[in-house]
Amino acid sequence: MHRIFGGVVPEIASRAHLTAIVPVVERALAEASTTLRGIDAVAVTNTPGLVGALLVGVSFGKSVAFARGVPLVGVHHMEGHLFATALDHAEAVPPFTALLVSGGHTLLLDVEAWGRYRMLGSTRDDAAGEAFDKVAKLLGLPYPGGRHVEALAKEAVGSEFRFSRPMTRRDQRLGDADFFDMSFSGLKTAVLHAVRDARLLNPPEHGADPQRALRASIAAAFQDALVDTLAEKTYRAAQIFGRTRVVLGGGVACNRTLAARVSERVTPLGALVYAPSPRLATDNAAMIARAGLFRLERGDIAALDLNAYASLPLPGLVAA
Ligand code: KG4
Ligand code: ZN
Repeated sequence: MHRIFGGVVPEIASRAHLTAIVPVVERALAEASTTLRGIDAVAVTNTPGLVGALLVGVSFGKSVAFARGVPLVGVHHMEGHLFATALDHAEAVPPFTALLVSGGHTLLLDVEAWGRYRMLGSTRDDAAGEAFDKVAKLLGLPYPGGRHVEALAKEAVGSEFRFSRPMTRRDQRLGDADFFDMSFSGLKTAVLHAVRDARLLNPPEHGADPQRALRASIAAAFQDALVDTLAEKTYRAAQIFGRTRVVLGGGVACNRTLAARVSERVTPLGALVYAPSPRLATDNAAMIARAGLFRLERGDIAALDLNAYASLPLPGLVAA
């Protein structure tokens, strides 16, 4: 459905949640060889996101918790992404530097302990995944475009294009507002100009694409600029806080070039990079369950008036 409309249409997404939630929960329980009777608590993400879609989960979660008489836990979606990598890698635990890169968010955090997060920087405009999706559209690739841009970029042999790395001037100092912050809308515009200047057309529906190499070249140059920016900001955070672990999360963490570039950049600090496997990097319920378990153990139980919110700050933020 998202593909047909070239993005997420909120009303359609909410309706799809409504029709999917019961069969999805039934299937998840069946695959885990259990039933609702085997459930000790219900964790549900209630922010941030599209309220219509979130409300379906929140209402359903409340009903199950109420009917079964078990605790209900509200989970911040981005805290879920933070916990996802630890499901794959037992060593991906605090303290660490975290780079969360999804379709809606780009957050750079210092994680002292689970539940204690220092927000260092975020994007001032487009999220990293959003930039990938918009560039995919400019290049005539399907939605969501991140993995298509990555695949196309692999075909490039060098690139005659080079885009500047946003907000990475060498004279930036700790304390400057743009030291950790990011911005990707200018990069997207630079890609738009390159696409126009190169007179790039949409790829033909059938047959060979005569502009494929050109398309790949632009994809590679875009990915390079974006990944370099993320790697530079992550390096700064790891270096300043003396962290030896860097945890990547969110859909864009599937990108192998990102993981490799961050790794190259922080290796001189003696730091290791942990990236989640694709099924845990992109949105999933396991990460919400894991973060929910942490909140449950802390006694952060929600009342039955739990609501959905388009945007709330991450819980556990400590002063910058
Ligand atoms: O975390 P996520 O699944 O959903 C949100 O919470 O937004 O992230 C989805 C985003 C999309 O923008 C998608 O294009 C991007 O992750 N993405 C990638 C790759 N795989 C998914 N971006 C770059 N390279 C990839 N391989
Ligand atoms: Zn997400």
